[in-house]
Amino acid sequence: MGKAGTEFFWYATEPPQQLTRLLESEPLPPGLALDIGCGNGVLTSYLAQRFELAVGLDLVFQPLSRARTEFGDVNGASSFVQGAVPFLPIRDSSCALVFDRDCLRNIPWSLWPRYFSETARVLRPSGILQILFPDRRRKPILTVKGLRTVAKDALSRKSRGGPRVLSTSVVRPLLPPTLNVIREDRFLFQVPSGNRHPFTELVVRKS
Ligand SMILES: C[S@@+](CC[C@H](N)C(=O)[O-])C[C@H]1O[C@@H](n2cnc3c(N)ncnc32)[C@H](O)[C@@H]1O
Repeated sequence: MGKAGTEFFWYATEPPQQLTRLLESEPLPPGLALDIGCGNGVLTSYLAQRFELAVGLDLVFQPLSRARTEFGDVNGASSFVQGAVPFLPIRDSSCALVFDRDCLRNIPWSLWPRYFSETARVLRPSGILQILFPDRRRKPILTVKGLRTVAKDALSRKSRGGPRVLSTSVVRPLLPPTLNVIREDRFLFQVPSGNRHPFTELVVRKS
């Protein structure tokens, strides 16, 4: 059972400033916004106020069902769909924006190339993919946390044979020729508890 709503440690009602800045500064074609790994739907509902349609997609039913109840009718422009990224139940060239805050890291690394070919498929020319992901660096092994991280990595199916950390240097070679990086940035993401976590922002535009 997945986490939902306020159970997310970073639950927040405000959109991240990386997203608001992008919408203010980057021209986008007409089309829909797709929020992949939408969780509680807060950000899908934000996007629904700015796009003709915002679709929130998540693997887990519980947060989706809460999202439908809470945000299912933002100006008639939001829709929540259950599905497994990277397989996107979306028509070719229909999205102006694909937004992902910490979904990519959750899918097996062997599917990461498919993630980018799928996002390239659903984006319109000049459409944008924005990915925000936490930088999880390995803690020094001589700490309890370090030992735990190493043990978790060893047991994880996700990391077996693949990169241990999602980073822009891992992502760049996976991008199809039509997706071009237009922004790469690091920032500190402050969660409601006040703790700050290092994150990376990657923005690519489809040619
Ligand atoms: C860390 S949460 C982020 C939620 C939301 N994007 C936010 O920033 O509040 C990751 C979300 O990705 C979803 N997820 C994980 N793997 C997925 C997959 N293969 N397909 C769709 N959603 C997935 C989880 O259910 C969860 O809601």
